Amino acid sequence: MEAVKKIFVRELLEKIDILEVVSEYISVKKIGKDWYAVCPFHPDTKPSLRIREDKKIFNCFGCGVGGNVITFISKIRNISFLEALSFLAERYYPDIYVEINKEAYSQKRKIIQVNAHILMLLRKYLKNKDGKLARDYLNSRQVKEEMWDIFALGFAPADPYLIPNILLKEGFSQDELCSTGNIKHTGDSLMFIFRNKIMFPINNPKGEIIAFGGRTLDETIQPKYINSAESSVFKKRESFFGIMQALDEMRLYGKCVIVEGYFDVISMHQAGLKNTISCLGTALTPSHVGFLKRLVSDVVIIFDGDDAGRKAALKNIDLFLKSGIIPKVGILPYGEDPDSFVRKGGTMEDVSVKDGVIFAAETFLDEPIRKKDTVGISRAISQVHLLLSLVYNESETQAEIYVREISEKLGISPSVLKSDVRKLARPYQQPSRKRADIPEYELEILRFAIFKKESLKYISEYEQYISSEEVVSALRCVREADGNVELAISLADEKVKKLILEVVIEGKDYPEIGWEELLESILKRLAIEKIRKELIQISKEAYRDPIKRQRYFALVKKLSFLEGVKPKTKRGEDSGSEK
Ligand code: UTP
Ligand code: MN
Repeated sequence: MEAVKKIFVRELLEKIDILEVVSEYISVKKIGKDWYAVCPFHPDTKPSLRIREDKKIFNCFGCGVGGNVITFISKIRNISFLEALSFLAERYYPDIYVEINKEAYSQKRKIIQVNAHILMLLRKYLKNKDGKLARDYLNSRQVKEEMWDIFALGFAPADPYLIPNILLKEGFSQDELCSTGNIKHTGDSLMFIFRNKIMFPINNPKGEIIAFGGRTLDETIQPKYINSAESSVFKKRESFFGIMQALDEMRLYGKCVIVEGYFDVISMHQAGLKNTISCLGTALTPSHVGFLKRLVSDVVIIFDGDDAGRKAALKNIDLFLKSGIIPKVGILPYGEDPDSFVRKGGTMEDVSVKDGVIFAAETFLDEPIRKKDTVGISRAISQVHLLLSLVYNESETQAEIYVREISEKLGISPSVLKSDVRKLARPYQQPSRKRADIPEYELEILRFAIFKKESLKYISEYEQYISSEEVVSALRCVREADGNVELAISLADEKVKKLILEVVIEGKDYPEIGWEELLESILKRLAIEKIRKELIQISKEAYRDPIKRQRYFALVKKLSFLEGVKPKTKRGEDSGSEK
């Protein structure tokens, strides 16, 4: 490493708060003078990962990983040490980053530069004769012209070749144009991906244009909205619409409002709520929450007044609770979204804003209580238990307040509810109950199936190696229920139901990035272990019995395949210990 980089690494390590970085990926808890977390690098339920703020290092008693903040990023994002270094540098030291990363940096600059040119054109088209329909549309939705400027709205003309041709004449190369995610090749020519659309530029917090959203003017065209393709500057799961416009206000008051759509954001700003942002047609992600957590402590989620909106709000509440923020929710009349609501003259005073935990508890409990549905009530109570245990992990006092309020609603004694919740709260100090009957790897696979629905498709190939019948049938239920845990529980028999519930109650957070590798290594280890056992069993008979011999060699082949094609793990000590 060149001298400049060495000095830089030292500086970076000195300045970056390891706790801040780590807690964006996993939830940490203070025990004594250090911080602990459940290690994301090996299957575990106990907090064996220790983070030492003073020494700026982390280490895991379970699997032995450890290092500084750069090591942590490189492991959790599965990138090299140098990539991790530049990832951190870009974020915390943008100026120095430019120095050591000239090439990647200049590619990003180029995309932002092309996007700025595109926006200039789009804005022109909105104002000239091409944009008449778009202007009429914005007027019909009562978006004031002041907002057109604040949000830099534009119009993408019907002819998709127009914009690329102008940009080529300005001297941009084809590759540069395509790298923006807004322009693509068709045959020999280049085409703008948005046609006849109202255009919403999407900014990063620095105000640079990283992408666009486009809304069709013709209600019969589906989908209603499209976005630029992702690029090296645009990741949907990390971006917000309105962040540039809302940032100052958010920072100033430590508060933000989250709504669902583009027009919702604009209407809210128009109504004076200048701290409003939205995601881009995706659910809120831990990356979003990690970003918000550094800026604000007070979050209001205003969702569309329908069942889908309510469902989305519940998910978001969960996500915020896991990161230690108790969000509020704003409830709109049925059938309204924030845009239609404020346009009809509604103000924030008219929105009933509720504490997120109370809102979620009521959503779970109210209907079964009203219908006197005892099965429904007990299911709702376990949902409430889970919810409160998340709060309990953050603050016992806060949890206590909720326990009082909710037990009153249920007409049960607060002490009963409290003791249930306390049992469920993630057992940070005492290790979780071990199940002697099921191997830990197999339990971990079930946890993946339950808490990371996307993992089911990877798991099926390895199911043959799972020895516990309970785990196998639990997996079958989860699959049949398409990942819906409540449905899975109702499909299961008593024993399996109990197993699924135990896993659900214990809870588990998987990192958004890198979980596939984690799962893959567990599945492979499971298979390797099983195959080795069988090999030992049949090795003697294989001399005599030709069928067994065939099997033996098939297994040896499979084993060397599994051991050879390991996931991209840099933890040499793991493969070492297996040999
Ligand atoms: P909605 O379907 O709730 O639409 O989508 P909306 O915001 O009320 O749209 P308007 O008011 O008719 O214009 C909410 C958000 O979901 C994303 C967009 O970000 C939209 O603002 N979305 C929706 C898409 O990405 N694609 C779609 O096809 C629809
Ligand atoms: Mn709308």
